[in-house]
Amino acid sequence: MMGPDPGSQDLLKSIKASQRNEPDSGILVAVNHGFGRPDIIPLWTGEGHLPTPKFICDAAARSLQDGETFYTWQRGIPELRDALARYHERQFGGPFSAENFFITSSGMQAMQTIFQLLAGEGDEIIVPTPAWPNYPGPMRMMGILPVYVPIRFENRKWHIDLDQLFDSVTDKTKAICLNSPSNPIGWVASVEDLTAVRDFARQRGLWIIADEVYSRFYYPESGGPGRSPSFLDICDHEERVIYANTFSKNWAMTGWRVGWVQAPVALGAAIERIIQYNTSGTPAFLQRACITALEDGEDFVADQVTRARSNRDMVCNTLRQFPEVQFEVPGGAFYQFFALEGMQDSTSTVLRLIDEARIGLAPGGTFGEGGEGFLRMCYLRDPDILSTALERLGNWLGSAKPD
Ligand SMILES: Cc1ncc(COP(=O)(O)O)c(C=O)c1O
Repeated sequence: MMGPDPGSQDLLKSIKASQRNEPDSGILVAVNHGFGRPDIIPLWTGEGHLPTPKFICDAAARSLQDGETFYTWQRGIPELRDALARYHERQFGGPFSAENFFITSSGMQAMQTIFQLLAGEGDEIIVPTPAWPNYPGPMRMMGILPVYVPIRFENRKWHIDLDQLFDSVTDKTKAICLNSPSNPIGWVASVEDLTAVRDFARQRGLWIIADEVYSRFYYPESGGPGRSPSFLDICDHEERVIYANTFSKNWAMTGWRVGWVQAPVALGAAIERIIQYNTSGTPAFLQRACITALEDGEDFVADQVTRARSNRDMVCNTLRQFPEVQFEVPGGAFYQFFALEGMQDSTSTVLRLIDEARIGLAPGGTFGEGGEGFLRMCYLRDPDILSTALERLGNWLGSAKPD
């Protein structure tokens, strides 16, 4: 293939440096290297192997057949916002108001909306890492500086140092972005952690961006409420906390691209404006299916969480047999983030694992400070396939050295 001609280099040079220079996420580098290879076992992205349940798809099809093909409410259809309020009442105890919910075209777009709302050129947002690369990437593309605070892996446990986090706040800081349960490390914030962050944010007038998209994927030692501790347990709905969420994970709807923002009522018009000028609303037929997911999808969610927990145990039990591997048993989400002794370059190792072991993982280095030296495996997959992937990894570790 011919390289870009000098003219196209000129074109590229003339766009904004912040857009041109942002590196691809390492997850995408892995996917681009191995996507579509017939014998690869892909565990690189955050999704399960099951398609969206048929009863959810049917609701979208019905809506299309009923002619819901027009522009719709910028904030989302009232019926879905009502259904979200009811879902939250069931999860957290009531009352919740539909006025706090805004439908977006994915959880990713919920994040974008929140960043656009709170910060701009020269502002800072605190991001504990290792973290999902889709926080710092879009922040930098908006001129916002992500300030990393490493969650440290010591004695096979992840430790967040809240004093270090609070010390990282400057007069440019607009928000603290906390993801619990965490992608990629599976760490779950305790109510005490959340309360300390809330108290600090209140005292300093900072916003909290709460990404709790994996809250249903929570594996407490015994029993538990069926969801992880949340800022919703300890915060007022009308204070400086904004939540990003998505239909992608709980209901196996990653390809649908529907999410939501939960925010104080006072921000309603501002959020609606951002939605209007970005997408002008999420398709109504998709939203109808989301109502069905919320109202009739509990058994499916419970089943996904049970399978995720049992896969987590299988992955941990297998990885324990490899002396060169270290990890903490994840308390939530559906990723295993493990350190590989002697690995200096997780991206290059991931590319070799695709070529040599036919398994697709994500490189730890892409998750920011503290992530290099680790690999991420999504384990929300068919257990037989997962077990083959672990066997391939074991064979590779037995015969090769990581880069
Ligand atoms: C931590 C976290 N937040 C938000 C999302 C958003 O998901 P989506 O854009 O599929 O709705 C993801 C997806 O991987 C995620 O891992």
